[in-house]
Amino acid sequence: MPGTEKFGKEELKEVMDVMNTGILFRYNHEAQRNNIWKAKEFEEEVKKITGAKYALAVSSGSAAIFAALVSSGVGYGDEVIVPPFTFVATIEAVIMAGAIPVFAEIDETLCLSAEGIEKAITPKTRAVCLVHMCGGMADMSGILEVVKKYNLILVEDAGQAFAASYKGAYTGLFGKAGSYSFDFFKIATAGEGGVLVTNDEHTYKMAEYFCDHGHNHEGNNRGMEQHPVIGFNFRISELHAAVGLAQTRRVPEIKQINQKNKKYLQDKIKSAVNEITFSRLPDERGDSATFMNLMMPDTASAKAFVEELNKKGIGGFNYWYTNMYHFINQWDHIKELKFPNKMPIHYQHKSQDYRNLHLPKSQEVIGRLISFGIRVSWTEEEMNNLANNIIECAKIALSKKMYV
Ligand SMILES: Cc1ncc(COP(=O)(O)O)c(C=O)c1O
Repeated sequence: MPGTEKFGKEELKEVMDVMNTGILFRYNHEAQRNNIWKAKEFEEEVKKITGAKYALAVSSGSAAIFAALVSSGVGYGDEVIVPPFTFVATIEAVIMAGAIPVFAEIDETLCLSAEGIEKAITPKTRAVCLVHMCGGMADMSGILEVVKKYNLILVEDAGQAFAASYKGAYTGLFGKAGSYSFDFFKIATAGEGGVLVTNDEHTYKMAEYFCDHGHNHEGNNRGMEQHPVIGFNFRISELHAAVGLAQTRRVPEIKQINQKNKKYLQDKIKSAVNEITFSRLPDERGDSATFMNLMMPDTASAKAFVEELNKKGIGGFNYWYTNMYHFINQWDHIKELKFPNKMPIHYQHKSQDYRNLHLPKSQEVIGRLISFGIRVSWTEEEMNNLANNIIECAKIALSKKMYV
């Protein structure tokens, strides 16, 4: 993944700035910190890329989506429409907020569709937690119409889509609040980290308090702050923020190379195998291009393709349908609501039976999908080799008797 391919002296410098002060905590200690504020700088860099009015760096993307939901006012008894294709953190965050996930259909964008959302609406629907998957973006125009029509709160989990945009506006900023992940597998990494973004001052303030035990940070008197709300510790450390800062500065360049490498591969594959298509990007120019998302004609041919790739020892891809915990087929613990303790969700009325969900479109789309991570460090020769291997494996898979 791009971020991790690009560790260098820039990351080291930012980390050493922090080590030299000895202040690893993001708040206070003005006298000792020699004006080193890496979390704040990291937030400024994220704002520069996305145009967000407010950004709050936190300990993980999971914390960021949880805080985004809570600070947007989503809570007990609210139904929140979610996709069946996402990292489990999205669903966990809804449940931890005391709300009730309602699964709706995705489409070839790999994200919730406007039609899917509308069909899942009930009188208890309060919000949509839209997830921008695999470096791309949802088809926002139709989704925004539905959100407006039913007066819903829109929260975006852009955990996998930092720096992706739709018609010039960045993911995470179409609704009340959004989140990015900077874990180890993203376009830029902080090691562990996340950022919450919003254009709404009240939502930002709630998030800021919520992510630091409800502390009001106006003033220097740590330990004797006002507490406008109850919160918890989701703070990022200055060390993680330092890495995130250096990495975020690299993102415009990484995005450009990703797009170039992705196009090179896709053009080669497209011209050689007619049957292969790609996930739909509502705005191709806004793609962060961290993944090339191949779509086979059906689940059977996708499985045969995966088998050929494995036989040939080709790595670097995900078949989410069966091999990854990003798809609902692997979420028995969520379907059975297995927690170590009793949670609000166990006592709430649920409009869906999670064990018997009917999501045929999502099953069809993810059954066909095979995603390759794009690398910034690829040489032309490496890309040619990969494209040739993909073409060869796809042709073998497609030529098997059942597909001719
Ligand atoms: C869509 C999505 N949301 C949330 C997360 C959680 O981010 P983190 O691993 O930083 O907690 C991820 C992580 O991969 C993700 O892909």
